[in-house]
Formats: sequence, C-alpha cells, structure tokens
Amino acid sequence: MRVERFATDDINEQRRQLMRDLPSVIGHRGAALHAPENTLASIRKSLELGASWVEVDVKLSRDGVPFLLHDTDLDRTTDGSGPAAALDMNDLARLDAGSWFDDGFSGERLPTLVELIDLLERNDMSLNLEIKPSPGTGPATTEAIVGTLQRHWPVGKPWPLLSSFERSSLARARDIAADMPRGLLLDRLDPDWHTVMTDLRCASLHLNFEEADSDLLASTRARGLPVLLYTVNDGARGASLLRKGARSIISDTPPAILGALAAGG
Ligand code: G3P
Ligand code: MG
Repeated sequence: MRVERFATDDINEQRRQLMRDLPSVIGHRGAALHAPENTLASIRKSLELGASWVEVDVKLSRDGVPFLLHDTDLDRTTDGSGPAAALDMNDLARLDAGSWFDDGFSGERLPTLVELIDLLERNDMSLNLEIKPSPGTGPATTEAIVGTLQRHWPVGKPWPLLSSFERSSLARARDIAADMPRGLLLDRLDPDWHTVMTDLRCASLHLNFEEADSDLLASTRARGLPVLLYTVNDGARGASLLRKGARSIISDTPPAILGALAAGG
C-alpha cells in the first residue's frame, strides 16, 4: 500500500500542525555547543542530548548541490578558505569540518542535504531547514533544496519546516512548494513583520529571543501562530520564554533548556 504524505497548503492548517508537532527544544546547527556545527556528528549529538528536532543551515555548492554550512566563506568552520559557492561538492566534501572545534572531531565532513535526510530518517528525527543562500542565490538555492526534498524526503513524514532571513528564498518556496511550511526569520521585529508573513504565506515566526516580549508571545500564542526563538543557551531563560508563549526554543545546548524544564524552571 502506498503511504501518502499528509500535506496542505492551507496556512491555518500548517499552523495547527506545527503547534501540535513542534518540540519545546530544537538543537541549533545540531548541538553547536557540543560538536562542530552543521555536521552529522552535531546532529547525532543533538539526539543523544535529548533533542530529536534540529535546525541546520543549507546553501549550494558551485555545481548546485545543497549542503550544510552557516557562513558564506569556508574559513571559520573548515580547513578550506574563501567562498563556499566557488567549489564543487566533490571538493567541499574533502574538507575537514571538525578539527577547528576539537581534534576529536577531525575528519568530520560538510554533509550534503541528502546525507542529512538519510541520518534523520534512520533516527526518526525532524528538521527546521534554514535556507541560507550564498549572496545572490536566494531563489536558485530554494529550487535546489525543494527539488532535493521532493526526491529524497521520506514519504509519510511531515515536510521539514523551511525558514530563511532571505525573502527571495521564501517567496520562491511559496510559489513552487506551497505545501512545505515556511517560517519567517527575523533578527529584529520589523514593524511590518505581519504583512511580510502574510505576503510570504509563512506558518511560523522565527525570532531573535532578545526581540520577544511578553505581549508578543501571549498574543501570538492566543492566535495560534507558532513562535520559535533563537539562540537561547540559558536554561532558566528558555523555560521562562516557553511559559510566556514561545512554541520552541532553538538552542546550541538542548540539555540546558530541557534540564530547566524538568526542574520546573
Ligand atoms: O534559524 C535560527 C538561527 O539559526 C538563525 O541565525 O545565524 O544562527 O543561522 P543563524
Ligand atoms: Mg541557522
């Protein structure tokens, strides 16, 4: 029997599903305080530390392969240098993405999105995929990511939650994959945030936690709009923001937040 994916382009239904499915804590770039960010080791570490949802950053290689990396350049988190978009995936895959963090992670690689999907499927994990295009590649990055998800994401598993600071990326996702839920990422709570969300048909708001006040969290919760706050590494702070109405906390150290929640903090 063929199992169909239950997906909808209805934003209110997407919000209801997210309100139901999102966890209290999502591992940021895997578990970035405990393992080199955006590597498979970091994803495994997040699960080991109690967070089965992860947030990762995805951009394109020169030959159009979606892979995990935060920065535009390779220098900070690999032994390569210069813009990542200048290299083909074969060359990116040879770089060491672990030693900068700790010698114990030497040999960790920059994972492709397909490799990530395989790991998530084997471990029954879920995903907030941040579309993090290299400059000038917003729509193309989205097209490649959506195509990869349509070919490789397990049938029957809810789509990942796509988010981005890049409005051109979200607009492209809205136009070609309306049934994949989208989150608007904001560093500052611009006055027109609600209009932008409506235009881009976003199901969730992903906000710098320093911008979230009690009124915003209470009113969004009352309206059924999921708010995810990044990047919170202090347990008591994370627990307090959840109590005030945040749906999820995105954290480099999931156990700090989970520990505070378990302690009733
Ligand atoms: O998706 C939340 C957060 O990851 C956004 O900021 O710079 O850590 O990708 P950044
Ligand atoms: Mg990110």
